[in-house]
Amino acid sequence: MYADRVLSGMRPTGRLHLGHYHGVLKNWLTLQNEYQCLFFVADWHALTTHYDTPQLIHDSTWDMVVDWLAAGVDPSQATLFLQSRVIEHAELHLLLSMMTPLGWLERVPTYKDQQEKLTDKDLSTYGFLGYPLLQSADILIYRANRVPVGEDQVPHIEFTREICRRFNHLFGREPDFEDKARQAVKKLGSKKAKVYEECRTAYQQQGDDEALSTARALLSDAQNLSLGDKERLFGYLEGSSKMILVEPEALLTQSSKMPGLDGQKMSKSYHNTIGLREDADSVTKKIRTMPTDPARVRRSDPGNPEKCPVWQFHQVYSSDEVRQWVVNGCTSAGIGCLECKQPVVDGVLRELAPIAERAAHYEANMDLVRNIIADGCEKAQELARETMRDVREAMGLGY
Ligand code: TRP
Ligand code: SF4
Repeated sequence: MYADRVLSGMRPTGRLHLGHYHGVLKNWLTLQNEYQCLFFVADWHALTTHYDTPQLIHDSTWDMVVDWLAAGVDPSQATLFLQSRVIEHAELHLLLSMMTPLGWLERVPTYKDQQEKLTDKDLSTYGFLGYPLLQSADILIYRANRVPVGEDQVPHIEFTREICRRFNHLFGREPDFEDKARQAVKKLGSKKAKVYEECRTAYQQQGDDEALSTARALLSDAQNLSLGDKERLFGYLEGSSKMILVEPEALLTQSSKMPGLDGQKMSKSYHNTIGLREDADSVTKKIRTMPTDPARVRRSDPGNPEKCPVWQFHQVYSSDEVRQWVVNGCTSAGIGCLECKQPVVDGVLRELAPIAERAAHYEANMDLVRNIIADGCEKAQELARETMRDVREAMGLGY
């Protein structure tokens, strides 16, 4: 019924680094070629935990947009916008809050986890409890069916699916829905109607997901149905209600293989990052001073790449050939560590060069960046408004 639509957001709480690039952004670059994509700065989400540092959010928001553009996110392919500039997100969040059981929010695993982890902050706030619901509003307002996220966000997508189903169940019914749906089934023609009915039964009675996909495909291809009938049949398939909001699916992002300078995962909190817009000298220096296998005290001591963080960088940046050279040279003390690091320095700089070039272009033209965002916000708002019209109507607010 709706074309595939991808949506994802990132919280502006600091500069992006190679971990974000390998973990998230490269995935976005692929997606923007394949789907309609909406990418946004989740500044309200950042405020739920960083409400005491507004300046950080302000600065990080613009830095983040420049980082995205520098990484190659293409505003002519993807829509880039700021959450707080599409205020309909807040309206949907409010309306959804009316039907969201408190227990569902309290049970989201990130709620207690984060509260326990970020002990320096009072997170017993209304806003923080509502974090997953705000995220649901972000997703549902665009009827986005694919949401690229990391493992840690999967519970939020599951939560969103439950909210979506609850909403459609509560508000998606037309008074004469059953009758209209049965009429619509007939319009499919007897052969397709039979397949549809069989799939519907298999899904509703045995939870057969394959049957669900088959029936959905059948509906997508059906030429002779009005849009309203099509929508009814999609709803009838899953439980006799009209789908006002669309259930999203997580597009699980492979966790980043990008190591940090100390061999742990690259992360701001470990102070082991290489920034996306860091200059070549600083990058070179950071790599040249990276720790190596502690057994190699002297140049003449053989080492073991498995015990060396530099080796993990070779996994990301080097060819088989270079890696063979590392193994041989390291274990025989045939090469020095600085020598070994040079291909890594070259690899990282090669990756960062086009990013730096695009960044320079945008940094020198912040008006251009602001225009890209203004355009994106406008486009996003148009889509959000369409959904809100249906939502208001369904909730009795269609005055
Ligand atoms: N919670 C997400 C994170 O921390 C950010 C986010 C907010 C998001 N709204 C979203 C991600 C909607 C995907 C879709 O990474
Ligand atoms: Fe690490 Fe390379 Fe030195 Fe071996 S030679 S310890 S792999 S930096």
